[in-house]
Amino acid sequence: MIQIASYQKQIEEAIKQSKYGSNPKELYEPIEYIMSLGGKRMRPVLVLMACDFFDGDVAKAIHPALAIEIFHNFTLVHDDIMDNAPLRRNQPTVHEKWNSNIAILSGDAMMVKAYQEICKVEQQLLPEVLSVFNDTALKVCEGQQMDMNFETLSKVSIPTYLKMIELKTAVLLGGALKIGALVGGARTEDAEQLYVFGKHIGIAFQLQDDILDVYADTEKFGKQKGGDIIANKKTYLMLKAMEMAESNRYMKEELQQWIAAPQFNPAEKVDAVTNIYNFLNVKELARNEMKKQYDIAIKALKTIPVSDDKKNMLTSFADSLMVREV
Ligand code: IPE
Ligand code: IPE
Ligand code: MG
Ligand code: MG
Ligand code: MG
Repeated sequence: MIQIASYQKQIEEAIKQSKYGSNPKELYEPIEYIMSLGGKRMRPVLVLMACDFFDGDVAKAIHPALAIEIFHNFTLVHDDIMDNAPLRRNQPTVHEKWNSNIAILSGDAMMVKAYQEICKVEQQLLPEVLSVFNDTALKVCEGQQMDMNFETLSKVSIPTYLKMIELKTAVLLGGALKIGALVGGARTEDAEQLYVFGKHIGIAFQLQDDILDVYADTEKFGKQKGGDIIANKKTYLMLKAMEMAESNRYMKEELQQWIAAPQFNPAEKVDAVTNIYNFLNVKELARNEMKKQYDIAIKALKTIPVSDDKKNMLTSFADSLMVREV
C-alpha cells in the first residue's frame, strides 16, 4: 500500500504541474477547477501499477496516466450535466459554478488535452496505445447513452444493466491497466488478462457506486445523496427492487408511482424509495454481485505469469475498492 500512496503522490504532483491554458479563462478555469478538486486518482494509479507489474519504467507511464485522469474528469464534467448533479467532490459541479455551455466546451477541450498527453508515449507504442484509448473512450460514450436511455425504460434486465456499467465505467479501469501494461512491455495476452481483471473490478466498483449513491455519508462521498433515485436511474438496487416488488402489490404500486411522478419533493422520493430498498434488502444483493465480479477479476489476475508479490499490490487495491466509502 506504501507503493500505491507513492504513485498517488506522483500523479498529484504531475497534475499540479500541468498547465492547461489561460485564455479565454472561461474555457480553462473549469479545467483547473475540476482537476484540482482531487478525487481518488485511481485510474492513473492503475496505469502506473500495471507498468510496474511488468517491470516497466514507471516514468514512461506518467503521460498516459495523466491522459486517463484528464479523460476521466472530462467524462465527469459532462456526466454531471447529463445527470443534473449539483455536487462533485463536495464542491459545485462545473455547470453549476459556471453554466452548461461552459461545461460542454471545457469538457471538449479536456478531451483534446487527454489526446495530447496520450500522444507523448513512445513512438513505437503509440498505435497500440491509441487504439486501446480510442476503443475505451467510445465504449464509455456507448455506456453513457445506455444509462440515459434506461432512465425512461420501465424494464431493464440485469445482464443489460451489467453491460451498461461495463461500458460506462469498467472498461476505463481495464483500459488504464492495459495501457500501463503495454508501456511496461507486457505480452499482448498478459495485457489482455489484466484488462479483464480491470473490467470486472470496474463492474464491482460501479455497483459500489450505486450503493454509495443511496447509503454513503454525503460529506465523505461528496455527491448529492440519492441522485440516482431522483433521476430514475436503473441501478442494480432499483432493478432488483422492481423485480422483487412484482410479488408485492402495494410495494409495486408505490415504486411505480415514484418512478412515474412528474413532480415530487426530491427528499421525499429519496426517503420513500430508500425505505423500499431497505425493506427488500436489495443492498445485500448488490454486494453479492460485487463479490461475484471480484472473484472473476482475481481469477484473471491469477493466470498472468508474474510474481505473487506483484499481484498482491493489485489484489489489495481491489480489496480496498470493495470496502470504499468515497
Ligand atoms: C466517479 O469515479 C465516476 C464513476 C465511474 C462512478 P470516481 O469515484 O473514481 O471519482 P473520483 O475521481 O475519485 O472523484
Ligand atoms: C458515471 O456514472 C460514469 C461516467 C462518468 C462515465 P455515474 O453517473 O454513476 O457517476 P457519478 O456517481 O456521477 O460519479
Ligand atoms: Mg451518470
Ligand atoms: Mg453521475
Ligand atoms: Mg453514481
